[in-house]
Amino acid sequence: MSEASATQSLLNVNALLDNPVFAGGFGLASLGAALAMARRGAIAGAGMIRRRLLVNVEISKQDPAYPWVLAWLSQPRPQTSFLAKRLTRINKLSVATATSTTPNGPTRASFFLQPGYGRHIIKYKHAYISVNREKQATARSNTGEPHETVELTTLYAHRHIFEDVFTEARQIALQANEGKTVVYSVRNFDWTPLGEPKRKRPLTSVVLDEGIKEGIVGDVKDFLQRQKWYIDRGIPYRRGYLLHGPPGSGKTSFIQALAGELDYSVAMVNLSEIGVTDDKLAFLLTKLPERTILLLEDVDSAFVNRKARGSDGYSGPTVTFSGLLNALDGLSAGEERIAFLTTNHIELLDPALIRPGRVDMMIRIGEATRHQAGRMWDNFYGDVDQDGSGKARFLNKLDSLGLFGSSEDGAPPPRTSTAAIQGLFLFNKDNMEGSIDMAEALIPQKIEG
Ligand SMILES: Nc1ncnc2c1ncn2[C@@H]1O[C@H](COP(=O)(O)OP(=O)(O)OP(=O)(O)O)[C@@H](O)[C@H]1O
Ligand SMILES: [Mg+2]
Repeated sequence: MSEASATQSLLNVNALLDNPVFAGGFGLASLGAALAMARRGAIAGAGMIRRRLLVNVEISKQDPAYPWVLAWLSQPRPQTSFLAKRLTRINKLSVATATSTTPNGPTRASFFLQPGYGRHIIKYKHAYISVNREKQATARSNTGEPHETVELTTLYAHRHIFEDVFTEARQIALQANEGKTVVYSVRNFDWTPLGEPKRKRPLTSVVLDEGIKEGIVGDVKDFLQRQKWYIDRGIPYRRGYLLHGPPGSGKTSFIQALAGELDYSVAMVNLSEIGVTDDKLAFLLTKLPERTILLLEDVDSAFVNRKARGSDGYSGPTVTFSGLLNALDGLSAGEERIAFLTTNHIELLDPALIRPGRVDMMIRIGEATRHQAGRMWDNFYGDVDQDGSGKARFLNKLDSLGLFGSSEDGAPPPRTSTAAIQGLFLFNKDNMEGSIDMAEALIPQKIEG
């Protein structure tokens, strides 16, 4: 179930409660069954009375709402009445740890206290809710992880409280990610956040050549406003972008900054990674989190793969060309999808990829230009080099080294990458003269061997 439909169904809890044949959807199956049975009078006696009096909602770990509900449960809830104080203390807690590696520092960890396994009682507004967090004995067939559920039970008369619970839980989840970009990567058969959500990267910190950034950002924003246009014309509502160019030119950084700008998450798959197969990719795309940019890195590996299969009949456990096309064409039409593909080897790609709906826009993100080097200088030394004389000397030196492509003898000029310029500036933090002196370091070194 997609996150969007989950939200919708929880807002429709009332409607569900009144519908005896309701099944599935937001883990309410047991509730629907209980109500239906009760109505048919199939069960008599105490069991029926219990079912009539109580309402329970089961949320499984696979549901996007599961972490929200746990976060909601860990909120401090000061109780005033004597009874509530005695009844509603959660004594058993468990720790959830999230770790992240910062680019130039050690791993950071943060801890969240969650209700532990077992039964707890909480009071929310006027209602008491019994919470049962359980690990089931059965495991998920594809990952081997045990099933886990949280079950909330309350009086039938208080059933409307669930609507508020889920609305609040979702709000908490949204707040926690405010100003952050969540990057999902593939773990087993699931999208798992890669470390903690990162602070949004400002678009201005990614310096592309003149007009490129504005062109892509404008196109994506235009696309996002045109859902109706696409639907009216029966065109699948998706758009694909291919960013190609040498390593360290800012492709990945740009996509992350773009996601931040749009308030989207990024779901990243590296196609060169062993173990990402066609089936797995197709499966993952059916459960892409809401409001995400799909990022397929190193798409050229799908083509290398096709060649390998031609020669020895074995494709290896990675994505094949047809697997990639299926992923882009998508079997489940109708949903919004923004896909970014990246590659360092445009020459390996097949023209079949460049078809509207698969890849609508192809952009080369190249070696550093004079414009980019200047803008990056401003980002790093703008405050110490106010008259711009340092910048002029730096750019002229790069020019004389031939780094902006002005070689006279016809040989391909030694170009440099924006990543290398960033590296030079990082090495010479607060020391612009150092960067000018060391500019030769930007000349790419041939790796002998
Ligand atoms: N155009 C740029 N503007 C700002 N920073 C950049 C730029 N290009 C590279 N960098 C910096 O260099 C590092 C590597 O960049 P990034 O990973 O985005 O490159 P890439 O193009 O995705 O490379 P690859 O093709 O190897 O995946 C990052 O720390 C990034 O901040
Ligand atoms: Mg990259």
